Amino acid sequence: MKHQSKEEKIKKLAELNKEAELGGGVKRIESQHAKGKLTARERLELLLDPGSFEELGRFVRHRSYDFGLDKQRPLGDGVVTGYGRINGRLVYVFSQDFTVFGGSLSETHAQKIVRIMDLAMQNGAPVIGLNDSGGARIQEGIASLGGYADIFFRNTRASGVIPQISAIMGPCAGGAVYSPAITDFIFMVQKTSYMFVTGPNVVKTVTHEEVTAEELGGADTHAAKSGVAHFACANEVACINDIKRLLSYIPQNCEEQPPAVPYEPGDESRPALNDIVPDNPNQPYDMREVIEEVVDRESFMEVHKDFGESIIVGFARLAGKSIGVVANQPQAFAGVLGIRSSRKGARFVRFCDSFNIPLLVFEDVPGFLPGTDQEWNGIISNGAKLLYAFSEATVPRVTVITRKAYGGAYDVMNSKHIGADMNYAWPTAEVAVMGAKGAAEIIFRKEIAAAEDPEAKLQEKIDEYTDKFANPYLAAERGYVDEVILPQDTRAKLITAFEMLKNKVDTLPRKKHGNIPL
Ligand code: HXC
Repeated sequence: MKHQSKEEKIKKLAELNKEAELGGGVKRIESQHAKGKLTARERLELLLDPGSFEELGRFVRHRSYDFGLDKQRPLGDGVVTGYGRINGRLVYVFSQDFTVFGGSLSETHAQKIVRIMDLAMQNGAPVIGLNDSGGARIQEGIASLGGYADIFFRNTRASGVIPQISAIMGPCAGGAVYSPAITDFIFMVQKTSYMFVTGPNVVKTVTHEEVTAEELGGADTHAAKSGVAHFACANEVACINDIKRLLSYIPQNCEEQPPAVPYEPGDESRPALNDIVPDNPNQPYDMREVIEEVVDRESFMEVHKDFGESIIVGFARLAGKSIGVVANQPQAFAGVLGIRSSRKGARFVRFCDSFNIPLLVFEDVPGFLPGTDQEWNGIISNGAKLLYAFSEATVPRVTVITRKAYGGAYDVMNSKHIGADMNYAWPTAEVAVMGAKGAAEIIFRKEIAAAEDPEAKLQEKIDEYTDKFANPYLAAERGYVDEVILPQDTRAKLITAFEMLKNKVDTLPRKKHGNIPL
């Protein structure tokens, strides 16, 4: 080989850097843009603080020689990896480059991802994966399957240690969906991303169903039907902004406390709360109004908005500090707990507990959803997930009962019996085994049937039951409720309660791990 001068060597480095930056070339970049998608590097530029990205493995090439791959060995091998900062905080990132073999995952592509996952674990910082990939690199066969498994293994080992966030910004098929599935949050982009284990063609062959990729696994499908996606974003820029916002509520790892923002104490009274719960106990209202009135202005970030809508979950700040909010939503199926809402609530509670985020619960729940659909699909084990998740959580936990707290759902929704630290009730609260009408019909059945006017008798018994049980005072007598408070004082009470609980120490019995009813 001819001797190269220093200038030539520097020039070569510049050329290689330029080549690496172009990924699969100008034509494929244009095609990516034509689909309304950004490139892997453009996405990272939007995600990370300007100038903070440090790339690792920029010159990695695959080592496959089959099917003509030896003639195509692009630098970087279809994934841009490294670390950088978001609002000054360290994160590890990978961003798949669809312009290189469709972002497909080879052995070396996987090794690059594994490297940053290992660094993230050792240094205690989140991993953010921007996925845009045709799945396993077909020419490589099992080497790429091995690469996937290396990633899944690390996703699992990292779960609960560092936050893991997946954004789906293009196709995500086959085994590729399982890494995001193990991570904590999945963001999808509407119209340009999809996730499925088997695509529409295979579905058609096997089940004879005709379905488009969008219907089968688009963002709206996974946000509303399967619950696989926590966020469906209108476009890639909105998606990246939402990821940054989410990170602002969560700590870097399980050993740290969540970040706080400065807060100036002021008048914490919120009189608007007095008017939200209607007089008629069967009239719905929007629990979001309660949440937004109680937490710091504009701080509520809802998670899983379109899935299991009878429960609301999301992050917020109270006096500048991060909290996780779990709330029944009387506006959706009267706030009843079903399979989806229980699963949704349980997963959120476990995330918050893993990462030291205190839990605030608003309760207005008439019970569990009855019916064959629910029973046959396992409302028992799914409802138990929420019960288990709350019972296991050791973070500060406070409940506010706004109206109904009936039956088993009373126990499940962060009652004192399962470890809540504080339980407040509004004067409109009804802590009871069931609603007055149902109760009267059961316990006074014979008396009502024998009455001259059964309707009048039923009403009399409903009134009697309501008088006796449809209030918070029996629960307060037993200490199940710590204090009955005016709605307008809720925010002030909660700020004081969470401040009192901020150094809470609670530990679980020594065990390998529990066995949540999955
Ligand atoms: C190698 C691939 C590839 C793959 C796409 N490409 N997928 N190369 N391995 N898996 C290449 C294409 O050859 C093409 O190369 C370029 O990427 C862009 O692909 P297009 O098909 O032109 O793009 P588009 O029309 O947008 O379609 C994207 C797509 C489609 C839907 C992802 O490419 C596709 O269906 N790919 C195969 C998906 C798949 O079956 N993957 C394996 C899943 S099995 P050129 O050179 O023309 O630009 C799996 C098992 C993992 O993942 C199990 C782990 C447990």
